Amino acid sequence: MADFKTQVILALDVESRAKAEHILETTGSKLKWVKIGLQTYLREGASFLHDLALTGKEIFLDLKLHDIPNTMVKAIESLSHLPIQMLTIHSTAGPEALQKCATAAKEFLPNTKLLAVTVLTSMNQSDLSSIGIRNKIPDQVDKLAQMAIEAQIDGIVCSPLELVRLRPLLPSNTTFVTPGIRPSGSASGDQKRIMTPSEASQAGANFLVIGRPILTAKNPEYVLSEILAELS
Ligand code: C5P
Repeated sequence: MADFKTQVILALDVESRAKAEHILETTGSKLKWVKIGLQTYLREGASFLHDLALTGKEIFLDLKLHDIPNTMVKAIESLSHLPIQMLTIHSTAGPEALQKCATAAKEFLPNTKLLAVTVLTSMNQSDLSSIGIRNKIPDQVDKLAQMAIEAQIDGIVCSPLELVRLRPLLPSNTTFVTPGIRPSGSASGDQKRIMTPSEASQAGANFLVIGRPILTAKNPEYVLSEILAELS
């Protein structure tokens, strides 16, 4: 059993700033962590992150950078002024990119954990084969996660289903962030490798990323409270 408390990150994937502000108002101080992904960051920009930080939220900027090593490093340098506590890059960018990004993050974002995305939780085995990857999903995730940790990346984004195996495989100070979380009874949407909040916590997740189950609920605060109660 984990000796840390699993925390919830709300994926603030919404179509307008008004909607984001409404959800934040509803969930209030129960919500500590917010994930800003491409949809919101590309529309609202850095100023939104600064405003969020002023309200006391911890910010996970989920840009999933994936490019040649030099461009990824320069992108990290460009983010150096942002109040972010976590940032994602794709592990499939390869070992050189991962190592250089880890070094750049230590210099330009010293208070930010750099996380490597392994295999997206929306992908199943047949999706992986269709992009030419013959490995089984668990082997592919292990390979990418180990490569990232060897490159001094702080943490891994993976499905909770892979956590059970990965947690003991990787150093104990590795941060595990898991999307693909669905409270029992909620719609899976495009997520294909899912677990409930308590199952993912027991598997060793430090952070659960949850979007639509909270965002599309009639009462987001209630759903968040239920999830937090399930975790405590
Ligand atoms: O709405 P839902 O709970 O599926 O949201 C999951 C969030 O986690 C989305 O913002 C998605 O971009 C992100 N994510 C993911 N799978 C990964 C990495 C990030 O679903 N491997």
